[in-house]
Amino acid sequence: MRKFMGLAGLAAGFLFLAASGALAHGDVTPHPVDTTGLPPLGKTWADSNPYRDNAKAIEIGSVGYYHNCAACHGLNAEAGGMAPDLLQLAKDCVTMTSPADKASCFKDSDDYFKGVVLDGKKNSEGRETMPSYGAVFTQEAVWAIKAYLDKRTADEAKSN
Ligand code: HEC
Repeated sequence: MRKFMGLAGLAAGFLFLAASGALAHGDVTPHPVDTTGLPPLGKTWADSNPYRDNAKAIEIGSVGYYHNCAACHGLNAEAGGMAPDLLQLAKDCVTMTSPADKASCFKDSDDYFKGVVLDGKKNSEGRETMPSYGAVFTQEAVWAIKAYLDKRTADEAKSN
């Protein structure tokens, strides 16, 4: 009987862990993104996303997003309220008509995006709220994911 209770308790514990893990985050270990096929960018960071509107980068970025970000920021970047909506980042940029304003708006959103993704974020108690990807992502990976998000943002703006 004792043994039976112990096993049942263990099984319940596992179920709880599995369920809470899936609900809270899913798999949130940073995964490298395979950017084969994209023009290499080297070590020096570009001022703003060199891959914007690049179809191959958008495709690679969508895979990178799915593996690394979707668990918290939502499938197809449709936020479920657990983490900020990433389609807001360049929302104002995509509808700008002046090319200069548009470029500078995207540059600001690129800068901000790059900083948060590489360094992550911590709350006031020092607990990590947003993981940092600086140790696993190349420059190519960061910009490919941003290209995907900007494409999604532009598509949303068109459909509204
Ligand atoms: C474990 C959950 C989790 C994962 C995985 C995650 N994020 Fe986040 N992210 C958050 C949370 C929570 C915040 C808000 C953090 C805060 O403000 O303290 C955030 C904030 C951000 C912000 C700032 C948004 C804003 O409006 O200020 C960006 C950009 C971002 N994440 C991009 C990404 C990208 C890109 C990925 C995948 C490479 C990713 N995140 C993976 C949880 C996550």
